[in-house]
Amino acid sequence: MRFLTITTASIAAAAFMLTSPVTEAAGPLVIKFSHVVAENTPKGQMANKFKELVEQRLPGKVKVEVFPNTQLFDDDAVLSAMLLGDVQLAAPSLSKFDKYTSQLPVFDLPFLFKDMAAADRFQQSPAGQKLLMSMEKKGLIGLGYLHNGLKQLSANKPLKTPADAKGQKFRIQQSDVLAAQFEAVGAVPLKKAFSEVFTLLQTRAVDGQENTWSNIYSQKFHEVQSYITESNHGLIDYMVVTSASFWNGLPADIRGEVKKALDESIAHGNNVAMEKELGDRKKVADSGRTQIIQLTDAERAQWVEAMKPVWKKFEKDIGKELIEAAAAANTGS
Ligand code: SIN
Repeated sequence: MRFLTITTASIAAAAFMLTSPVTEAAGPLVIKFSHVVAENTPKGQMANKFKELVEQRLPGKVKVEVFPNTQLFDDDAVLSAMLLGDVQLAAPSLSKFDKYTSQLPVFDLPFLFKDMAAADRFQQSPAGQKLLMSMEKKGLIGLGYLHNGLKQLSANKPLKTPADAKGQKFRIQQSDVLAAQFEAVGAVPLKKAFSEVFTLLQTRAVDGQENTWSNIYSQKFHEVQSYITESNHGLIDYMVVTSASFWNGLPADIRGEVKKALDESIAHGNNVAMEKELGDRKKVADSGRTQIIQLTDAERAQWVEAMKPVWKKFEKDIGKELIEAAAAANTGS
């Protein structure tokens, strides 16, 4: 028993050393921020702003290293790397946490939010804020939400009604809700990393994908997809996360400054997201490389009806009350 106590204590001490900040004498504390998108996206701009603000306000004390474009980890690997202390900040899409919590997949329910204002209202509501701590027991803390935008459907054939998607292979993020969404229209979902999507589309290993205008434009998906249906059927937003041991191990004054810089860089990223939703849509339209399809009300209603059973399917896992709270954000002002 004594042996066990000593061993546990030494493991705990080793874990603390692995994840604790470096002292000032040993040089500045380094925060590694890993993400998978390009620098000219809401998340890329937010991460760069965070570096700028932190290094301006905590000179010599904290250094931020940003790794965009999956240079360090993909979204699947980044959370386990974070728990090991190999990276301190990340902002995976809300669709990438289902190994850690059954609640965050609420954000993947199809046609949940009518617009970004509704998504924002839910995120800022008590129920949305509570979700930031939903993975605390697993060692992860959410520090805030960051917007990207609503998702559009792209393919090499026009997708006007759910019947058009039948049998088509779609790349999806790591999310069972998203898999069920495509299965509901008879399509074949394939979970693949973001860094692989362009090649999968270019080589026609998959027929289509779903993403926001800024991701479509920055990754050039529109150059290898003949049609984009402006479906606005789902959301890609992010949770900025860190490990509880890293965050709680920071000296209080440093933690306060870092959090302030983070909040300001999230506000900056949200402005970029708003501009890009329109701006990158226009760039895609002006490129002439793809055709943007507008749905009629009747066509859109068919997609909603076909995908709506997904809500019921995940109600038990996500929680009825949480789903209702999210849907209620559509009626707020
Ligand atoms: C991201 O925006 O971070 C990636 C989204 C995706 O995997 O499609």
